[in-house]
Amino acid sequence: KTINIALIPGDGIGSEVVAEGVKVLQAIEAMDDSLSFSFTEFPWGCEYYLEHGKMMADDGIEKLKSFDAIYLGAVGYPGVPDHISLWDLLLRIRKEFDQYVNLRPVKLLNQSLTPLKSKTEEDIDFLVIRENSEGEYAGAGDWLFKGKPEEVVLQTGVFSRKGTERIIRYAYEEARRSKRTLTSISKGNALNYSMVFWDEVFEEVGKEYPDVETYSYLVDAASLYMVSDPGRFEVVVTSNLFGDIITDLGAGITGGLGLATGANVNPEKEFPSMFEPVHGSAPDIAGKGVANPLAAIWSVSQLLDFFGEEKWGAVVLETIKSIIGDTERLTPDLKGKASTAEVGDWFVELLKKK
Ligand code: NAI
Ligand code: MG
Repeated sequence: KTINIALIPGDGIGSEVVAEGVKVLQAIEAMDDSLSFSFTEFPWGCEYYLEHGKMMADDGIEKLKSFDAIYLGAVGYPGVPDHISLWDLLLRIRKEFDQYVNLRPVKLLNQSLTPLKSKTEEDIDFLVIRENSEGEYAGAGDWLFKGKPEEVVLQTGVFSRKGTERIIRYAYEEARRSKRTLTSISKGNALNYSMVFWDEVFEEVGKEYPDVETYSYLVDAASLYMVSDPGRFEVVVTSNLFGDIITDLGAGITGGLGLATGANVNPEKEFPSMFEPVHGSAPDIAGKGVANPLAAIWSVSQLLDFFGEEKWGAVVLETIKSIIGDTERLTPDLKGKASTAEVGDWFVELLKKK
């Protein structure tokens, strides 16, 4: 089986960490005769924008369509407004390819990584399923009286029945499959249209899943519980913006952005899915060779899972776990002294022994 992967390394540390993820895939290819990967690189991102006035080629989406998967580093660059780099590349791909499921594991791989001193690896292990196609990221808005004292800015959240039902159903299926509880995170008390609707759909769809134990929290309370009692979460489903925010909180309790991954999935496989670390281009450390590649490598594990190579996906995750036990082999964000490429090389050595 060959998996055709479009690489968009992007800006800053994006290209530094993607190179290490590719190393890992190539090592797997060399060990498994039945599996191979082809890579095609696209130079899109902010530097491309500064040269061409756009984040990707005009036929970019058309070009990406034929691939099985997209492996993305990060975009963002001082001098290019963040809303342009985000909307014209990342969000454009998520929307055009209907990648409506964002899978973000919040999993503590080593107790030393969490600032929550009393919590163990068993306590912090849940999967956030973020709605990835609409909601607060609908993009509908208006600017009135710009620059005047009367200035007002409006931005609408759009929650369709189709969009809400499909993400909630996906989450119920995942909870049933993995025999875990399902928690919905919303805010029905304050957002008295969109989130009341969300809560209703959560309850309605739930009728088809009497075997799944459910909980429903307001997002503010859920943020508190994630710190005080993360053990109560197993599978979590939430809206686009809330999912974005609570998964950074999730990164905070599991070792930081250098270890957080996210898969943007089109479950029907009608379009390519996209795999990426959660972090951005980190201009503060870009070019220094100290970015942690483990988040990007975890994305590789998610990619392998998605294509039915769960055995390899688990081996990659196990290898991340073992490398974390050895501070010498880690980048400075995890108190080590190694460079990005050294971590990748050492990772491949460990992988070969698994
Ligand atoms: P960021 O994730 O780039 O960096 C936040 C902090 O975490 C920085 O101190 C950085 O050094 C550190 N960090 C992040 N990843 C790391 C890694 N792998 N190893 C070690 N340290 C790491 O977020 P920030 O600073 O808010 O945004 C920078 C740029 O990235 C902006 O232009 C933003 O729009 C963009 N961005 C892009 C994303 C994407 O392409 N998916 C996601 C988030 C931000
Ligand atoms: Mg984010």
